[in-house]
Amino acid sequence: MQAMARAHSNIALIKYWGKRDETLMLPANSSVSMTLDAFYTTTTVSFESGLTQDAFFLNHRAATESERLKVSRFLNHARALAGTDKRAVVTSVNEVPTAAGLASSASGFAALAAAAAHALELDLDPSALSRLARLGSGSACRSVYGGFVEWQKGTRADGLDSYGTPIASESHWDIRMVVACVSASEKGVSSREGMRRTVATSPYFEPWVKAAEADVTTAKEAILARDFTRLGQLAEANALKMHATALGANPPVLYWQEATFAVMRKVQKLREAGLPAYFTIDAGPNVVVLCESKNSSNLQRALADVPGVMDVVVCSPGPGVADLEEVAL
Ligand code: DP6
Repeated sequence: MQAMARAHSNIALIKYWGKRDETLMLPANSSVSMTLDAFYTTTTVSFESGLTQDAFFLNHRAATESERLKVSRFLNHARALAGTDKRAVVTSVNEVPTAAGLASSASGFAALAAAAAHALELDLDPSALSRLARLGSGSACRSVYGGFVEWQKGTRADGLDSYGTPIASESHWDIRMVVACVSASEKGVSSREGMRRTVATSPYFEPWVKAAEADVTTAKEAILARDFTRLGQLAEANALKMHATALGANPPVLYWQEATFAVMRKVQKLREAGLPAYFTIDAGPNVVVLCESKNSSNLQRALADVPGVMDVVVCSPGPGVADLEEVAL
């Protein structure tokens, strides 16, 4: 009853922002992402008799009690599917380049879902695995697949139709996401809380949901047609709409820092100077810049010079979740 899996992180091109059901992690709108090669989590799960509670080791140390509880609550879903109450020892290692400060919940829960399902011999198909990962963190359902992925919001109350589906594999399109890290510290307002506040109080929430649904359709077309300008413009505008909606909450949810603005302006300037690049921003201050592979070195150098930028990491489209042979973590 032991298994190991690896899952890569993903960055949304069309954002998931707002839930219609917080318990089942059902989103208000569909979303589209690219899985990244450079950021991933490797997790081992071992269900053992005689344990009184789950144990969780993260990055070679015992996890905090709140991290442990999050993992334990997630494992309850896997245990329910398997009809067991055995507790587990979970060991996770995040591969995140220095100072990246990127959220690891997507890769973390996708790897945990895969390892737990394998250890419990659940034999889940990718849709079912994606649904299970979603119960840990919404965006994790997209990390089941490599390349370009859609999370269909679904309409059912039980969430059975809300999971990730592949749009195109990692070999479909050689584009890059260049991550400009401006802060490695924990964000002030978690995505979960930011979404909650936005849904409850932002007057822009309903229009956001409508616009995001339309953006998903266009994004899929642009990805399949490998239309870089169309996808870039759309992703940048979608991220700004998400943040505008969050800024409309009460109290406002503002994730940007001075360096965030500086990178956004730099990207606009580079574009005016003839380098096609477009930014997107998650629930934090880091900026992810989309570009074609031939421009990634120039872009990396240009972003590294922006005041407040600590590290710049170039990511290619990465693979989906994989079961691994047992090796020591
Ligand atoms: C801005 O998936 O981290 O990155 O479902 O509450 O765990 P929970 O939230 P999470 O939110 C991701 C928000 C986002 C946009 C996105 O990845 O689509």
